[in-house]
Amino acid sequence: MADLATKYMGLELKNPLIAGSCGITSKVEDIIQLEQAGIAAVVLKSIFEEEILNEASFDLKEAENNKFIYTQLSETLDYIDVHTKEKRFSNYLNLIKEAKSKTLIPIIASINCITDSEWIEYAAKIESAGADAIELNIALSPMDINLKDADKIIIRIIKKVLKAVKIPVAVKIGECFTNLAGTILEIDSSGVAGIVLFNRFYSPDIDIYNLDIVTGRKLSCDTDYLKPLRWIALMSDRIKCSIAASTGIQDSNTAIKQILAGADAVQIVSAIYLNGKEYITEILTGIEKWMFEKGIFSVQQFKGLASYKKATNPSVYERIQFMKYYGRIV
Ligand SMILES: Cc1cc2nc3c(=O)[nH]c(=O)nc-3n(C[C@H](O)[C@H](O)[C@H](O)COP(=O)(O)O)c2cc1C
Repeated sequence: MADLATKYMGLELKNPLIAGSCGITSKVEDIIQLEQAGIAAVVLKSIFEEEILNEASFDLKEAENNKFIYTQLSETLDYIDVHTKEKRFSNYLNLIKEAKSKTLIPIIASINCITDSEWIEYAAKIESAGADAIELNIALSPMDINLKDADKIIIRIIKKVLKAVKIPVAVKIGECFTNLAGTILEIDSSGVAGIVLFNRFYSPDIDIYNLDIVTGRKLSCDTDYLKPLRWIALMSDRIKCSIAASTGIQDSNTAIKQILAGADAVQIVSAIYLNGKEYITEILTGIEKWMFEKGIFSVQQFKGLASYKKATNPSVYERIQFMKYYGRIV
């Protein structure tokens, strides 16, 4: 029997599959079903900094009337509801408590934040409610032309949260950084227990017939796993904290690839939306089958085998390949 156990942020997981933060992880009934299907841990739907502070300053109606603004901010607007905001945080704490009391898997709370302001004290309340860990989705907008020293802001937020809680903290980032490798190394040395590569940003689209801005693809597609794969392979040997792969992992093959690159765990969201919760069992069976065929007995045995340092041909992860394939004059 294959040993699928892994360790992520110091948490013992029965297998590497984590349900990433999304609508499905906002209801206890769904979390129970995810556990029944075999998921090893769940990242709850994020609570947004604006909700916590109850001080969102934009007018929902005005934003809805202005489609350009609405589309840019829709990730946040999704959560803005002036009438219910006050109750939201206590509802969130109740979600943590109930999920903990009705399941046996680690429950990771998620905070979507953009500053290091006074909301940080709420991280301690999340810890007291019983969360096993916290994932910070630090959502600094790459579109913000006034944003300076993004790395410093991220490290400041992390340091404050780490001071406030004892449970492990992970950071989920996107890939839009001037020096992504440097940012990942800085985050690692800040003392976090894990890093999630990568967050998927919502992208609006344009309807060329109605000349209108429309909702872009909400779910990832099955080639989106390549970006996290490359960066996990490049960085996994160089950082101490755990790594969770996120974005585009839609089957057992892509989950296996991320672990081969060096991921300790794999977060899935779109795969569950597209195929239902029972699909988790199929992914796990696929991983076991592959391990059996390769004569591999444990996840530990193949984790990182294709990382930059361990790969037999590490140059495939580098820029040289770009020059080789696209730099030729044809
Ligand atoms: C409907 C939906 C809601 C989401 N809500 C959140 C959220 O609240 N917080 C967060 O960090 N990520 C959120 N995400 C992003 C996912 O956690 C994940 O990073 C992204 O979907 C890429 O993974 P996937 O390719 O497996 O879908 C959401 C994604 C979807 C599709």
